[in-house]
Amino acid sequence: MHLSSEMIEAINEQISYEASSSNAYIAIGSWCERTGYDGSSAFFYEQAKEETTHMLKFIHYLNNAGSEAIIPAIDKPIGNFESLEAAFRFGLESEQKVSKTIYDLVDLSSKQKDYSTYSFLQWFVTEQTEEEILFQTILQKFDLIGRDKLAVYQIDQSLSAIRSQVVSKQQLLGQQ
Ligand code: FEO
Repeated sequence: MHLSSEMIEAINEQISYEASSSNAYIAIGSWCERTGYDGSSAFFYEQAKEETTHMLKFIHYLNNAGSEAIIPAIDKPIGNFESLEAAFRFGLESEQKVSKTIYDLVDLSSKQKDYSTYSFLQWFVTEQTEEEILFQTILQKFDLIGRDKLAVYQIDQSLSAIRSQVVSKQQLLGQQ
């Protein structure tokens, strides 16, 4: 398998985005933890682990293709949010940006007739769809249940169940 220098550079950029996502989710999890949102804290720490897994998949892919994966420096993430809803909105927007960079990689692999990378990326396309749905589903809860203290508490407490529903759906679809 031979990767073009443009593709190697683009995948290394993606490694950097995944690392930043992981760090950003740890920062949100930490904010949730000190604010008292236990369900959300566990949710975001788990989300951070998933992003690290994504980063590692790209690292393995480059290294196994005989290229060099560059382990990036990471900017300090945002550490404070005005509300739990704002934290989840930040998460959704971050996922949407990552989806866009994945689609750009798919476009590049298609343009270059790099079928190996194209095939490798399909897992990420599905994963990003799931991630966006997950965040949208959680954000919907604020419209459905409310934004007063009790409602936000209930949403926070429901988060571990939401994650396990999504995970079991992915398992059913054979994606994990
Ligand atoms: Fe790895 Fe959720 O982007």
